[in-house]
Amino acid sequence: MAAVNNKQATSAAALVFLGVLVAVLAAEDAGTTHLTFFMHDIVSGSSPTAVQVIKGPGGSATAATLGMSFGDTLVMDDPLTETSSPTSAALGRMQGFYLVSAQSGLVLTVCGNLLLTSGDHNGSTIAVLGRDDTGADVRELAVVGGTGKFRMATGYVLWKTSSAKGADATLQLDVYLTTSGNATTIDAGAPVSPAGGGSSAGSSSGSKSSSGAAARAAGGWVAVVVAAVVGSSWLW
Ligand SMILES: *[C@@H]1O[C@H](CO)[C@@H](O)[C@H](O)[C@H]1NC(C)=O
Ligand SMILES: *[C@@H]1O[C@H](CO)[C@@H](O)[C@H](O)[C@H]1NC(C)=O
Repeated sequence: MAAVNNKQATSAAALVFLGVLVAVLAAEDAGTTHLTFFMHDIVSGSSPTAVQVIKGPGGSATAATLGMSFGDTLVMDDPLTETSSPTSAALGRMQGFYLVSAQSGLVLTVCGNLLLTSGDHNGSTIAVLGRDDTGADVRELAVVGGTGKFRMATGYVLWKTSSAKGADATLQLDVYLTTSGNATTIDAGAPVSPAGGGSSAGSSSGSKSSSGAAARAAGGWVAVVVAAVVGSSWLW
């Protein structure tokens, strides 16, 4: 009797262990990342970072005080820095365009590639697309993809005006994204270098990322199989 009870206790412990192991692996594979940037969008002065390329016909005074109207389209190459000070450490650029897309109120459609230029993520990009209602305290834009370390990213950006002077603004961007897609799509037999090769730092960091993810995924499966085999020998 005592022996049977012991065996059941051992089996239960093995199952709990297996459950914890799977939970830990799942948490690791989620690949959730939070990044914060300050973006400086300067339209005034002699060295603007955003330039108007299309002027809407006007008429409906969308944002008369800023001289902006429905249809206005600007191309941006805005610096991204670590703090709200434009002279703080440079982290990347936001390159793309935005346009006034509402007939009343200053509501923008923003479409841009957030390029990282420092650290581990140097050369990787995050594709951002969304609606920026400048009258709201916090706007949510979509992360619709990415490249390099952010290949197959999905997520969102919380977009806040940190300060504004006329049409110039500093925005705080909090990017939340998941890159779990890059682990599930890796074929162990496939080459890890990006198609077409290339010699930039961007491509080498991309291949490093892929092989790391593949190794982690393989390690995880070995651990699960070992645990399952050990667990079953205890059960039966
Ligand atoms: C995908 O790549 C990114 C960047 O290297 C990494 O942080 C993330 O953990 C990877 N995802 C997975 C699930 O391995
Ligand atoms: C980022 O990558 C670029 C292009 O490969 C390189 O010129 C630059 O020095 C890198 N910057 C940092 C901070 O690593």
